[in-house]
Amino acid sequence: MTRARYRVDAGGDAAIARFVLPERLGFGPVLAPVMYRADWAEGEWGRGALLPYGMIEIAPGARALHYSELVFEGLKAYQVDHDRPNLFRPLDNCRRLARSAERLAMPVVPESLFLEAIDAVAGACSGIIPSRSGQALYLRPFLFGTESGYMLRNSTTFSFMVIANPVEAYATGPIKVAIERSDVRAAPGGVGAAKAGANYAASLRASSAAVARGYTIALWLDAHEHRYIQELSGMNLFAVIDGELHTPALDGAILPGITRDSLITLARHLGYVVRERLMALDEVLAQMRSGACSELFACGTAAIVAPIAALAEPDGAEHAAAQLDRVAAQLREALLAIQERRAPDPFGWTRDVAVAPAAAPGAPAVAG
Ligand code: COI
Repeated sequence: MTRARYRVDAGGDAAIARFVLPERLGFGPVLAPVMYRADWAEGEWGRGALLPYGMIEIAPGARALHYSELVFEGLKAYQVDHDRPNLFRPLDNCRRLARSAERLAMPVVPESLFLEAIDAVAGACSGIIPSRSGQALYLRPFLFGTESGYMLRNSTTFSFMVIANPVEAYATGPIKVAIERSDVRAAPGGVGAAKAGANYAASLRASSAAVARGYTIALWLDAHEHRYIQELSGMNLFAVIDGELHTPALDGAILPGITRDSLITLARHLGYVVRERLMALDEVLAQMRSGACSELFACGTAAIVAPIAALAEPDGAEHAAAQLDRVAAQLREALLAIQERRAPDPFGWTRDVAVAPAAAPGAPAVAG
C-alpha cells in the first residue's frame, strides 16, 4: 500500500453524495463535483489536494491567459458492468503531457503526480461514473503558467489540475466533416503535435464555422501545399482503401492520438493491413468516387470511433464513401470491449483506478 501525498478538502464527499447523474450527458456540460490541484513553485511540485469543484483564482496577467502557456490531456475512466473503475493507457497520456510540456518549456508532471491526481478524481467519482457502454468519466488534466508578466519567457509558477465530466461520446452517430481549405492549424516544428491550448485556438475559427454550417468538425490539410490530410483537431482520420486501413503518418504537426495508436495495433491484431502514409485529399476523394476507398472514420478519446458520413467542400458539395460504419463499427466494438473490460486485454492497456478509502478532511488520503 502506498501513501498518497494529497490532501482531501471538506465538501467533495457531500457534493458527490448530492450529485444526480442526468439522463443526457453530452460531452462536457455535466461536471463532476470534485477536482484536483497541485502547484509548482521554486522548482518543485507542492502537495496536491482533492477539492470540491469550484472557481479558481488566477492573476489577470498570468501567462496562461496571455501567451497560452497551457497544455492538457484527455482520458477516460470506465465502469461498465463492474464496480471498480478502470483507466485506459493512462501512462501514455502522462507521457504525452510531458512531451507537450517540454515543447512549451513547462515543467513536466511526474508520473506519480499524474496518477495520483487521476486516481484521486476517478476514485472519488466512482459512484457517479455512467455505466452504459460508450459512456465514461472523461478526465481532463491541464497544466498552465500562473505567473503574471509580459516578458516573453516561461512562467516560474504553474498549476496542474484535473477536472472530470460524466460523458457520452463526443458525437453520437455518423459525423459530417467540413474540409478547411484556407486556415492552417499547424506546421511541422510548431505546436500541432503538442496537446497545447494554442493548437486548438488555431482551429477554432474553422471548427466554429463548420458547426455553424451543420458539420461536426473541420478537416485540416498540411500547411505547405494544402494538399495532404492531417487530422480533425480533436480526432484522427482513417480511410478503408482496398480493404486496408490508411491513416496520415505523424508528421510533427498531427497530434499523436492514443486512440489512433490503439486502433493501429488492434486492427493489425484483427488481421488488417494498416498503412501510415502521406495521404493526398484529392487522391482519397478520387478513390471514394471509384469505390476503392469504401469507408472513412475518425477516432479520438472523446470521439471513440466515429463513422464519417461525408466530407464537405467550402461550397457545400459533399463527398461520401459507399459504406458507413462497417469497419468502424467492428473496431469501435473491439476497442470499447477492451476499454470497458468486457473482453480480454491482450495489450495490457487497462489499469485499475486506485480507490482511496475515505479520508478525514485535511488528512492525507491513502491510495491502495
Ligand atoms: C480528446 O479526445 O480527449 C480531446 O481532447 C478532443 C477534444 C476536442 C474534445
